Amino acid sequence: MAFLRSTARHSTRALRSSFTPRKNILPRFVALSTTTTPITPPPRRPTAAQNAVALSLVVVAALGLFLTSGSPTVFADDGTNHAKLIPFQEVSRHNKKDDLWVVIRGEVYNLTDFIAIHPGGAKVIIQHAGKDATKIFESIHAKGLLESMLGPSQHIGTVDPATMPKLEPELTDDDIRMLINNKNKPPLGAMINLRDIEEVAKKVMSMKAWHYYRSDAEDGYTYRNNFAALTHYFFRPRILREVGQVDTSTFILGMPSSLPIFAGPAAMAGLGHPDGEKNIVRSAANGGILYGISSNASCSLEEIAGARQPDQPLIFQLYIAKDRKVSADVLKKVECLGFKAIMFTVDAPVLGRREFDMRTRIVADDDEQENAPPNSKGGVSATIDGYFDVDIGWKDVEWLQRQTKLPIIIKGIQTVEDCLLAAEYPGVKGILISNHGGRQADYAPASIDVLYELRQTHPEVFDKVEVYVDGGFRRGTDIVKAVCLGAKAVGLGRSFLYANAAYGERGVSKTIEILREEIVNCMQQIGLTSLSQARPEMIKYMERTVEPPKTSDYAQE
Ligand code: HEM
Ligand code: HEM
Ligand SMILES: Cc1cc2nc3c(=O)[nH]c(=O)nc-3n(C[C@H](O)[C@H](O)[C@H](O)COP(=O)(O)O)c2cc1C
Repeated sequence: MAFLRSTARHSTRALRSSFTPRKNILPRFVALSTTTTPITPPPRRPTAAQNAVALSLVVVAALGLFLTSGSPTVFADDGTNHAKLIPFQEVSRHNKKDDLWVVIRGEVYNLTDFIAIHPGGAKVIIQHAGKDATKIFESIHAKGLLESMLGPSQHIGTVDPATMPKLEPELTDDDIRMLINNKNKPPLGAMINLRDIEEVAKKVMSMKAWHYYRSDAEDGYTYRNNFAALTHYFFRPRILREVGQVDTSTFILGMPSSLPIFAGPAAMAGLGHPDGEKNIVRSAANGGILYGISSNASCSLEEIAGARQPDQPLIFQLYIAKDRKVSADVLKKVECLGFKAIMFTVDAPVLGRREFDMRTRIVADDDEQENAPPNSKGGVSATIDGYFDVDIGWKDVEWLQRQTKLPIIIKGIQTVEDCLLAAEYPGVKGILISNHGGRQADYAPASIDVLYELRQTHPEVFDKVEVYVDGGFRRGTDIVKAVCLGAKAVGLGRSFLYANAAYGERGVSKTIEILREEIVNCMQQIGLTSLSQARPEMIKYMERTVEPPKTSDYAQE
């Protein structure tokens, strides 16, 4: 029903005309390719022969003997070795399968040999033969990929900028919608709450990016239940408590935080804003909160670390690769870069079936490969299954303890039983009750309900490890409820991505400030002057609930 309604809303023309890559996100291995170990990603649905090609590439690249393309290096007129600028007209002559140059960020590459092993297929590259492919390349590929996957001989030189053709804007319906909405968006000062910012993001983001952020698993019951469940917890406000001075600060694993919130690890902040995670890092520093960096970040770890304020602590979120050596290297690198804790995500052995995302992809697939067999699994899941380990188990928590001295947070716990198990590991200092924002198992319980059950049945766990929670928290009241039930801090995922997409760094900072005002206000209303006074007695669970406001996310569906 939701599907029928939503597709009816979008015109077929818009569906067909907008370019949508077959997958909406880069597989996780691309982000990991920032490690020093050369990693050549496996092609999608690889055959044995393709595997062999990929493997040989790793070996060849590691030896620094990358295949030469046989193309002539362009020398300066005076016969010296100084490469001269290449006129664009020269590039456009190499526009065939067997002689194929492209311009990416002003540099000319010979991709003749590369097309056969391009993980995204030969066809897209051939379509851009002899052209400037910067825009499409940057929209899909991680920074640093060119350097890590192409050999020096494939870099022909620099294009002469004076000869570049004027950009002919090829605007899709979606581009036009975004441009108009961006121009007309309300000023940041008009944003009163997080929903306001979310609404702006929905309008100004590309269809592809917005659907990736908003996506949830299957019918979205867990996604919506995260919001719905929160409406069952009411306060028992205390009065006459002299609430003139309110302290919202706390410590998360000993790291100071000005609010009981953190920015959760959410992939691909770059889909919303070109500065990606760097904006969130800077705003987190200004707002005095922590940020967990996704394994699948758009920016490289170096860029992210470089955007930090001196002494700003950051957390790294880890997915474990099949090849443990790769993950061990990532952990070493993260420690060297000064990250302060590891958040091990355990609720995504395989990706959830995110249908908004999948349907958008299938539309593009049909356009590109008319006779392609249906891919029931979905490209992203297939690729990730090949690279990340589906067979992760409790033994890997032990493995992780051996690999790092940093405190470990287990992210993605969905039952009280697993809270108890996780708290047994000495290296585990924190547990994050989370259902990945409803993106993994549909019908996983709302995080607030698991927190409540844990508080009721095993209050001792809160003394053993720090307990955090995320999923659907959008208001200061939501956050204070969780703190009353024992959460040390609450994570927000989509809200920071949306804010970054709508208003960049200022939007992320505004999100933190709105939450600060709401948290302070809530504490004053219910009689709290510090978070240590937030107790379970201040919460009452109500079977009955009230209609959600018409503007709220889950009310719309
Ligand atoms: C078949 C693929 C698609 C599916 C299943 C789908 C699904 C949805 C759903 C369920 C919503 C509402 C979610 C909410 O309100 O929280 C939505 C909103 C939206 N979709 Fe799609 N969509 C698809 C393709 C597209 C395409 C191709 C475009 C643009 C060219 C697009 C642009 C939008 C926009 C701008 C919104 C937000 C505006 C609004 O609420 O009316 N969608 N989509
Ligand atoms: C004209 C230049 C290029 C174009 C138009 C292009 C386009 C694409 C497209 C459309 C995809 C599929 C994305 C998806 O399914 O979501 C892709 C994937 C990919 N491309 Fe490229 N690409 C280009 C050049 C390159 C180069 C030079 C490299 C390496 C240096 C590269 C490495 C990759 C990788 C690693 C993937 C991900 C594999 C996967 O999604 O399964 N591409 N590319
Ligand atoms: C677009 C998006 C990407 C995400 N990527 C990751 C990820 O790479 N690693 C991870 O552990 N969690 C990831 N998450 C889950 C978040 O860390 C968090 O659990 C969730 O967003 C919280 O729910 P909320 O969005 O309702 O606040 C992602 C969530 C979203 C929305």
